[in-house]
Amino acid sequence: MAPRCYQCLFVLLAAVLVLLAAEPGAVGLPAQVSDPTVCIADGINSTAQYRHTVRLGRYFLPIYTTVNLSKPVTVDNILIIQHGAGGEANNFFCDAVAGTSSLNSTAVIAPYFGNETVLQKDWLVGSASNRTSLFWNATRWNQGAASLNAPNISSFDALDALLHLVTRCPNRTCAKQVTVAGFSAGGQTVQRYAWASSYGAANSTRRVQVKFVVSDPGTYLYFDTQRPKSSCRPRQDTGPSWSCSSFGDYMPFASACPAFNDYKLGLNNLNTSSPYFTRLVGSPAAMSAAYLAKNILYVLGEADVCNCLSSGVTNPAVCFRANQSCSPVGNGNNASCCDMPAPQPINAMVDIACGDMLQGSNRLQRGLLFMSYLKTFSNGSASPQFTTVPGMGHDASKLYSVQKFLNFVSSL
Ligand SMILES: *[C@@H]1O[C@H](CO)[C@@H](O)[C@H](O)[C@H]1NC(C)=O
Ligand SMILES: *[C@@H]1O[C@H](CO)[C@@H](O)[C@H](O)[C@H]1NC(C)=O
Ligand SMILES: *[C@@H]1O[C@H](CO)[C@@H](O)[C@H](O)[C@H]1NC(C)=O
Ligand SMILES: *[C@@H]1O[C@H](CO)[C@@H](O)[C@H](O)[C@H]1NC(C)=O
Ligand SMILES: *[C@@H]1O[C@H](CO)[C@@H](O)[C@H](O)[C@H]1NC(C)=O
Ligand SMILES: *[C@@H]1O[C@H](CO)[C@@H](O)[C@H](O)[C@H]1NC(C)=O
Ligand SMILES: *[C@@H]1O[C@H](CO)[C@@H](O)[C@H](O)[C@H]1NC(C)=O
Ligand SMILES: *[C@@H]1O[C@H](CO)[C@@H](O)[C@H](O)[C@H]1NC(C)=O
Ligand SMILES: *[C@@H]1O[C@H](CO)[C@@H](O)[C@H](O)[C@H]1NC(C)=O
Ligand SMILES: *[C@@H]1O[C@H](CO)[C@@H](O)[C@H](O)[C@H]1NC(C)=O
Ligand SMILES: *[C@@H]1O[C@H](CO)[C@@H](O)[C@H](O)[C@H]1NC(C)=O
Ligand SMILES: *[C@@H]1O[C@H](CO)[C@@H](O)[C@H](O)[C@H]1NC(C)=O
Repeated sequence: MAPRCYQCLFVLLAAVLVLLAAEPGAVGLPAQVSDPTVCIADGINSTAQYRHTVRLGRYFLPIYTTVNLSKPVTVDNILIIQHGAGGEANNFFCDAVAGTSSLNSTAVIAPYFGNETVLQKDWLVGSASNRTSLFWNATRWNQGAASLNAPNISSFDALDALLHLVTRCPNRTCAKQVTVAGFSAGGQTVQRYAWASSYGAANSTRRVQVKFVVSDPGTYLYFDTQRPKSSCRPRQDTGPSWSCSSFGDYMPFASACPAFNDYKLGLNNLNTSSPYFTRLVGSPAAMSAAYLAKNILYVLGEADVCNCLSSGVTNPAVCFRANQSCSPVGNGNNASCCDMPAPQPINAMVDIACGDMLQGSNRLQRGLLFMSYLKTFSNGSASPQFTTVPGMGHDASKLYSVQKFLNFVSSL
């Protein structure tokens, strides 16, 4: 046999392995949701029975759900968990189902904001429909961008449609509360959605409470042009007790970073960023005030402190992975791979454009600075609820070991 054919055999073997690795019946599902490893470890061998859709016009949002949303909801608590940049909605769903299994009367829903479209007949067992799902350019769902096939439908419209479904009370049967939680890029989604959406308003007359959990987002939506001064954002791990009382208007320095306040980092260019914003009724100032009054818990990993790409950053040992290679290696001060703490996949790098760095030098610092910002912005009237989690790197599965998070989801 010519070496060429060994290669062919290898390719064939690899293809067979890929088929074996894919979930039974998952042919036609996007790669982002096809790896069953995490779900199997969570005790869910197949997610087929949990796949459901939320209709939006001619399109649908694919979701995983433990409750049949065609029937009245009969659980007290619903956790909606928003996946991160990798789009692994199946992993987020299964981790949440396993992680909340000790809670009473709690259902889990995980939407899938994909980067390619899915046919309904591939998503739903027994469906023959060619209806297509909403999908987005890369991770732009994390800022309410329009779906690529439906220019009028924002990812925030899709979340509104999902919340509409789960907060209806047919025959007055409804859940008590819905928690919309997101981690990483999902945390970005939820933080901005909590600002943009009317759900969760403190003066809401809806019977179902809507609250939010924002965990380890790369960046936050700021509500004005104040930013932490440079003394507040040293390029190193500043620990879980960091706070800052030194904010200032960055506008006079904007020539150094002209996009620092453009949406998704600030409130510039809202209308051109999302069709959702052209339909807003409240003023941005009123929405920021409403945000401050919403029930939002921030969960920050104490080990989510790495920034291996910016120059001049000193990273702690937790960011270096012995005997692994990664590219780029990191910020050059160590021969080993610098990235997020193991066991997270390599390349969970934090955003480092100048506007990102103005919010802090790593995710933990950015989160704590945003807590300080909310106090500054509200003239001291806001006291955000947050918790820092020892040993939690950039790892969504750790959320379910956080008692404060579990209580938030399941206690009124
Ligand atoms: C999942 O598959 C494993 C191995 O085939 C089997 O032992 C287990 O019972 C299955 N679990 C469920 C929940 O079906
Ligand atoms: C959900 O409920 C509807 C209405 O009762 C029913 O037709 C449908 O088969 C159910 N779906 C699943 C997946 O159980
Ligand atoms: C979708 O995202 C995955 C990573 O999550 C990536 O590997 C893939 O290339 C992306 N597909 C498209 C069409 O952008
Ligand atoms: C679940 O409900 C039972 C009965 O009301 C109660 O005893 C138990 O403490 C609850 N468990 C949790 C985790 O809330
Ligand atoms: C779905 O699309 C295929 C290929 O374009 C077509 O042959 C089939 O009739 C369509 N099915 C439905 C239900 O529209
Ligand atoms: C996707 O986003 C990138 C980066 O913003 C942009 O350059 C590109 O034009 C977008 N593609 C589409 C199809 O919208
Ligand atoms: C988008 O929605 C607006 C208001 O809902 C409507 O006026 C407009 O015609 C829609 N545009 C498209 C392309 O559907
Ligand atoms: C509401 O109750 C009526 C009468 O019991 C029943 O016929 C109907 O199916 C119920 N609707 C839903 C959505 O459960
Ligand atoms: C809630 O407060 C907002 C802002 O003050 C106001 O516009 C809205 O009408 C209020 N809604 C209700 C139901 O009171
Ligand atoms: C955004 O669009 C809305 C609706 O078209 C409009 O009322 C508002 O003035 C626009 N805002 C800006 C800053 O252009
Ligand atoms: C280099 O990486 C090791 C772990 O492989 C770490 O213990 C050490 O602190 C790093 N050195 C520097 C200068 O960052
Ligand atoms: C890295 O590799 C060296 C040499 O193969 C080995 O001695 C060491 O135990 C490895 N370290 C880790 C953390 O795997």
